[in-house]
Amino acid sequence: MWLNIDSFEEYKDVYKESVENPEEFWEHEAGTFYWRKRWEETHSGSFKNGDVKWFEGGKLNITENCLDRHLNTIGNKTAFIFEPNHPDSFRRTITYRQLHEDVCRFANVLESKGIEKGDRVAIYMAMTPELMIAALACARIGAVHSIVFAGFSAQSLAERIQDCDAKMLITNDGLRRGEKHVPLKDISDEALEDCPSVKKVIVCQRTNRDIDWVEGRDEWWHLLIRNAPKEHEAVEMDAEDPLFILYTSGSTGKPKGQVHTCGGYMVYTSYTFRNVFQVEEEDVYWCTADAGWITGHSYILYGPLLNGASSIIFEGTPTYPDAGRLWEVCEKYGVTHFYTSPTAIRALMKEDIEYVNKYDLSSLKVLGSVGEPINEEAWHWYHDKIGNGQCPIVDTWWQTETGGIMISPLAGVTPTKPGFATLPLPGIQPALVDKNGKEIDGNGVQGNLVIKYPWPGMTRGIWGNEERYKETYFADYPGYYFTGDGCRRDEDGYYRITGRVDDVLNVSGHRLGTAEIENAIDEHPKVIEAAIVGYPHDVKGEGIFAFMTCDNGVSEPEDFKKEIHDLVSKIISPIAKPDKIQIVDGLPKTRSGKIMRRILRNVAAGETDDMGDTSTLLDPSVVDEIIAGKAY
Ligand code: PRX
Repeated sequence: MWLNIDSFEEYKDVYKESVENPEEFWEHEAGTFYWRKRWEETHSGSFKNGDVKWFEGGKLNITENCLDRHLNTIGNKTAFIFEPNHPDSFRRTITYRQLHEDVCRFANVLESKGIEKGDRVAIYMAMTPELMIAALACARIGAVHSIVFAGFSAQSLAERIQDCDAKMLITNDGLRRGEKHVPLKDISDEALEDCPSVKKVIVCQRTNRDIDWVEGRDEWWHLLIRNAPKEHEAVEMDAEDPLFILYTSGSTGKPKGQVHTCGGYMVYTSYTFRNVFQVEEEDVYWCTADAGWITGHSYILYGPLLNGASSIIFEGTPTYPDAGRLWEVCEKYGVTHFYTSPTAIRALMKEDIEYVNKYDLSSLKVLGSVGEPINEEAWHWYHDKIGNGQCPIVDTWWQTETGGIMISPLAGVTPTKPGFATLPLPGIQPALVDKNGKEIDGNGVQGNLVIKYPWPGMTRGIWGNEERYKETYFADYPGYYFTGDGCRRDEDGYYRITGRVDDVLNVSGHRLGTAEIENAIDEHPKVIEAAIVGYPHDVKGEGIFAFMTCDNGVSEPEDFKKEIHDLVSKIISPIAKPDKIQIVDGLPKTRSGKIMRRILRNVAAGETDDMGDTSTLLDPSVVDEIIAGKAY
């Protein structure tokens, strides 16, 4: 029997048990899946050594659990509903049986093109069912997928392909997002100039625009799939074999390829999906994230399929053709579970309420929030205007590294509180530590958020860089996993995430390293040095503020800002463009040459009354100059 917690009392009991007997707890959960061979060791390794493993020796294929297992029971049930960018374009539904067939066909295609177990395959695609099919087909043959968000530049794509030596790239001719057209194949061609490891490119038609073609390398998806057999015997994997790599920003310049595994990730995403959202048989679940981020991996692709849910794949944006788009889709399909980001909520609450009132949202039962702290105003608007005061909000805290939701209410079970991710899921043991790594006991306290005990869904490594993995997560506080987040635990023991405590920004729920953006800006011939900080932004949560010193100053700051935007878009992505720039004569540096970011953060936030101790600065007079300067 699957564990399904449905009362707060039960939650407390199960939580207690999960802490007292963690291995039994996860064994029970893992036992609900189809394994070709049961695992030998439930859990081994430690945070101390950075060598955690789960269900080692267990043999499985995750796609048998996502698809084959359902064929006899819910084969004709809708797995995916595809809603295109424009509401009048072709939409379709795909049953579990059809999805199984499509995945098998494409798995055969991949094998026929020489892709084998362990090979890496990069996926750079529009949000369509084919993206999911591509990823599942990789999983079926044991290839490691690396999905790259289709908003990233050629250079970012190339960097990710090179880092994992991908053998193949799967892309579209192009995509449409709102009014915008993104020429994915052109961008891919540019990226591949520097990626000798890629021998084959499969192109799935979406926009039908003219594209360049490299004979012998490029092939059309639709031609390949046509004659591919619809049966495929899934490749047997070990629980600890890698399932996918997903790159995420850290405090240094280079993105980190987080490695998730076949067994532990499967158990964890499935368990969290079921208990957090409490989706029932007839429900229609919709997560608006993009598959290029972990939310899309865990809660559009794997979590819902593992649980046999029906879920929506949405290609569009919240404001196209107008700001009622999300609510229109909710009405059209009778959505019961809706999971989105605080940024989307904040953007939509600024619009005329008629965009909401026009639609019948009475099918909604549960609302979810993910990716950034949700402010109380947005929480209340979401609760009252979208949920009609009737739907629990699950504010889910987690990370790319955690694989799945860690701290969150269980829908309808955990009493909620605006702005709080509330309590840890059973199996998860959070703690707060002070700067010296000492655990802070009791309630009504604040500190850095760490996790005390391993869980099956956690990242097993940074691709090709074991040292960096150990250093990033396990070195600051030995014996713990360090999240990089600050957190408050209130009088009731409820957790409220306060934001990153490292040099990582969270802009519209997108995680961006300040060093990455600084490196991009430094490429401008005029720029001597750039320093990036975040500042409170009423829609994006955090905005990007770039301070920089320039050769000979800048005479046309508006034009210069555009050049910086173009440069950052080209090197990283439009999502990393600074909202504000300020040219300064000097950056506030300590005698040892470190930029004192605290000062810049205060200026960016407009909080300049008390700048604190500036005596360690090499030249304290720069502070007044920066305060008096003008931002564009
Ligand atoms: O700072 C936290 C914030 O997002 C970071 C993780 O980003 P990423 O790996 O891109 O994954 C985002 C989707 C899970 C965290 O370190 N974060 C995520 N969820 C919340 C959040 N901050 C506050 N409340 C949340 N619910």
